[in-house]
Amino acid sequence: MFHMKNNPSALFKKIKNLSFIALLFLMVNCADQKPPLPETKEVSLKESFADNFLIGAAVNDALISLKDSLGANLIKKEYNTITPENSMKWMYMEPQQGVFEFETADRYIDFSTKNNIAFIGHNLVWHSQLAEWVEKITSAEELNASLKNHVQTIAARYTGKIHGWDVVNEALNEDGTLRNSLFLEKLGPDYLVNSFKWAEEADPKAELYYNDYNMTHVEKRKGAIELVKMLQKEGVKIDGIGMQAHWGLEDPTLEQIETSILAYADLGIKVMMTELDITVLPNPWDLEGAEVSQNFEGSEQMNPYSDQLPDSVATQLAKRYKDIFELFVKHSDKISRVTFWGINDGHSWLNNWPIEKRTNYPLLFDRSYQPKAAYHSVLEIKQDSTH
Ligand code: GLA
Repeated sequence: MFHMKNNPSALFKKIKNLSFIALLFLMVNCADQKPPLPETKEVSLKESFADNFLIGAAVNDALISLKDSLGANLIKKEYNTITPENSMKWMYMEPQQGVFEFETADRYIDFSTKNNIAFIGHNLVWHSQLAEWVEKITSAEELNASLKNHVQTIAARYTGKIHGWDVVNEALNEDGTLRNSLFLEKLGPDYLVNSFKWAEEADPKAELYYNDYNMTHVEKRKGAIELVKMLQKEGVKIDGIGMQAHWGLEDPTLEQIETSILAYADLGIKVMMTELDITVLPNPWDLEGAEVSQNFEGSEQMNPYSDQLPDSVATQLAKRYKDIFELFVKHSDKISRVTFWGINDGHSWLNNWPIEKRTNYPLLFDRSYQPKAAYHSVLEIKQDSTH
């Protein structure tokens, strides 16, 4: 019988072959590895602002389906709260009457629970991204029963696992009056009171919020304050108000933001920045806010940074983020959470709104998840204040 032990050249060959296989194995595996997250000396966002407020991001399904492991790792490192960007909206949760799709939402909740991340449910009641069958309902009774079933079924399923719910999203017009949605038209303002009541009954521990855009505008602010007062007068639990905070490099002004934070805090409820992002792209229509039904044809002039963001604009964005975070920290006794609407620039809805297929840069991380100047400028605030 042939023994390698007794045959050094065969042994050498065998070792060579094995090393070759090992090398091949390493090469294949390394090629598959994504670049590591950047090592920074800075502490993370969530650690930096731990004494001030929760720091969050809206996330999409790639994150929990493990297709985006960089994003998932960044979430665990930088943020202590997440909001699903789309998957918990009505059209996805109850696509057909009485038929609920819980799978994706369950995975978000598992991810949050495992990683000790506060989960924000977004949202229970909104006129947009509704399921088609709801829009076809003609009778008030049926709509009321469907609304009740939707709110209660979903809120009850996640009892004890949800930090807070955006119970009602965008119920106001710009002039502060109630938006003439299907719900208002058929059910009157009672739909607001009832939605909050049903959510509380189903999940008494979750915080309950009203969420909207352009919340720094005088008229809309008045409307939001009236809406909250109406709920309070009806004895309904409302814990906080979400200012979506889809803002620009100059609008709204710091004064407008500050006045609004103070006005909402005066209602005795928490104030949150729930969908923060800052567009750097031109907006010829003076469009503000986030009316998702508005979309326009673009031109090249409207997409000036398709290759890269000039340093001058990156610096302006970093300054803007620093200014608003300084304001948030100043009022952190009133602000309980600041959530960015996305993690990296490539995933932001602002690449497609209000004009499709542009290249926008509204967040703190670039398209490869590298921290931008804006990220460092936000962290600097806490470094400066600890000197
Ligand atoms: C609004 C909604 C969000 C999202 C954004 C655009 O702000 O609250 O859910 O749809 O518009 O992404």
